[in-house]
Amino acid sequence: MLTLEQVGAGYGLSRVLNDVSLRVGPGELVTMLGRNGAGKTTLLRTIVGLHPVAAGKVTFAGNDVTGMMPHARARSGIGYVPQGRGIFPHLTVRENLRLGLAARFGRGEGRGAKLPDYIFDLFPVLARLSERKGGLLSGGEQQQLAIARALASKPTLLLLDEPTEGIQPSIVQDIQAALKRIRCELNVAMLLVEQYLDFAWSIADRFYVIQRGSIAAAGDTRECSADSVAHLMSV
Ligand SMILES: Nc1ncnc2c1ncn2[C@@H]1O[C@H](COP(=O)(O)OP(=O)(O)O)[C@@H](O)[C@H]1O
Ligand SMILES: [Mg+2]
Repeated sequence: MLTLEQVGAGYGLSRVLNDVSLRVGPGELVTMLGRNGAGKTTLLRTIVGLHPVAAGKVTFAGNDVTGMMPHARARSGIGYVPQGRGIFPHLTVRENLRLGLAARFGRGEGRGAKLPDYIFDLFPVLARLSERKGGLLSGGEQQQLAIARALASKPTLLLLDEPTEGIQPSIVQDIQAALKRIRCELNVAMLLVEQYLDFAWSIADRFYVIQRGSIAAAGDTRECSADSVAHLMSV
């Protein structure tokens, strides 16, 4: 459903991504592993249209989206959970979630739309905290809110940028359980960017490792051991 063919991108004259080709199939959970500065965030921003593609082609659901605006990609079914979560601290949990609806339906149409029930089913904590300001939530609660907000637009593909970063272990387990359910019950495909190798390995079907902006390894998580790629990720 998502295909990148020899994608290149950069900042000014410096190339950050080189010749990146990858594929995520319908309902598949694929992880993109790589150390700090490897180009993971730039890659996701390029896929959602927040960063321009300098070379190559991005295809989603059979359409060439290489030059498409970010809101159009969101409407076509790409959900995005940015690194650092991107919660609006002065808005309540419910207001943050409604912004997710607007991403899909546009401001006007989104107003009457209802938040999907599965959001509070997946993240019961958000129902309890729905009137609390986003900035007052813990890191783990904010991460759950960021994932829920992306799901409010009913995406068919979810891009997650280091959802475990700075999160305590018990909440990492909750997030792991939620991602499994999102995949199995909602049949949403995912591209999970991570530095936390064991976490990503335990839930992904396939992996890629990105090193200095290029794909350095790829495979099936059941056929390879996490140890076999650890050296590509250590600093
Ligand atoms: N806004 C920017 N301007 C210039 N260079 C940037 C910018 N953002 C990131 N970079 C550079 O691009 C490279 C990849 O960064 P990034 O995509 O954030 O990596 P990762 O998410 O894997 O840590 C790094 O060398 C970083 O310094
Ligand atoms: Mg990053």
